Amino acid sequence: MRSLSLEGPQVSEVGFGAWAIGGGWGDQSETESVRALQTAIDHGVNLIDTAAGYGDGRSERVIVQALQQRPESVLVATKTPPAPGPWPPSPYCRWQDRYSAAYLRENVHQRLRSLRRERIDLLQLHTWTAAWNDDPQPLLVLRQLRDEGKIGMIGVSTPEQDQSCVIQLMRDGLVDTVQVIFNLFQQEAAAQLLPVAAETGTGVIVRVALDEGALTGKYSADHQFPEDDFRSRYFGGDRLQRTVDRVAEIRKDIEHFALADQYSLADVALKFVLARPEVSTVVVGMRSAEQAEMNTRVSQLKDLPDDLLEHLRRHNWRRGVWYGGK
Ligand SMILES: NC(=O)c1ccc[n+]([C@@H]2O[C@H](COP(=O)([O-])OP(=O)(O)OC[C@H]3O[C@@H](n4cnc5c(N)ncnc54)[C@H](OP(=O)(O)O)[C@@H]3O)[C@@H](O)[C@H]2O)c1
Repeated sequence: MRSLSLEGPQVSEVGFGAWAIGGGWGDQSETESVRALQTAIDHGVNLIDTAAGYGDGRSERVIVQALQQRPESVLVATKTPPAPGPWPPSPYCRWQDRYSAAYLRENVHQRLRSLRRERIDLLQLHTWTAAWNDDPQPLLVLRQLRDEGKIGMIGVSTPEQDQSCVIQLMRDGLVDTVQVIFNLFQQEAAAQLLPVAAETGTGVIVRVALDEGALTGKYSADHQFPEDDFRSRYFGGDRLQRTVDRVAEIRKDIEHFALADQYSLADVALKFVLARPEVSTVVVGMRSAEQAEMNTRVSQLKDLPDDLLEHLRRHNWRRGVWYGGK
């Protein structure tokens, strides 16, 4: 267990990422989603990360169903999206148009109704822009809602292209938690965000630790994702090929350190993230009971050796940058 912020609750190292059980990932049966959630809880998971937008409330509904008759206390972290407009917000978006006080209040009340709770354990703004850092009124509205008892903790989830835009909010004491991308390919959070989390006692929820499944090593370059799986676009063009080639290099490292019989690629991807003490929990997307079993067992595995961890840093991939080709 780890602390979700300095004075926050104890949470399991592996949390349940509930995007895929909502929608956008091709076929997903609710029966299997409930089984995945139940299995994860059976294996000690006590934090679920969801959002209003995951299947237009379906993920929240399935979570309510799975938690019925469970005696365990499970934290549910959900997210309020900005009002319609560019995603991620452009540098010219005004918070008044995307996260006004009236909009935030109404959305938080919707989340309470959807999750059938009196209080949201952790309410995260689903995305953000540095443009709002010097006038972060939406977070003051969430603070009022916290004072009114509607919200337990306040968080912000980073936009995909800028993990560092929440650092100022952390330093200004405006967030209890941040949700960030940190994985073998995208290691930018190590530069400043993670050290600042330690300095400020901010909880860190890591997402996309498996690079949407690619870091499990199960996909080949010719894999076809169904049209209604967002990965048909995420891995569009030659992106899956380039990703698979890099995954093969990671596999070689694990073999070089003679650890392939102890850790699967997915284990290494999760252990790499959990090697950072600043990380409170890694929320992993799980679509089946089998995946829930595989992912939760990483807490029983030994830590990765330091020399492998250092070696794995070489896989940092600035894939958004054009120099030298994508
Ligand atoms: N903007 C945001 O705030 C934001 C954005 C993205 C995600 N998130 C949150 O972060 C969570 C995690 O990210 P993610 O779900 O996008 O991606 P992820 O955790 O990197 O990948 C999850 C996917 O990998 C596959 N998988 C998981 N465990 C596996 C295993 N042991 N073996 C083989 N395959 C396995 C599953 O899909 P397949 O079996 O279909 O391959 C699963 O849906 C989300 O669920 C959500 O809660 C937040």
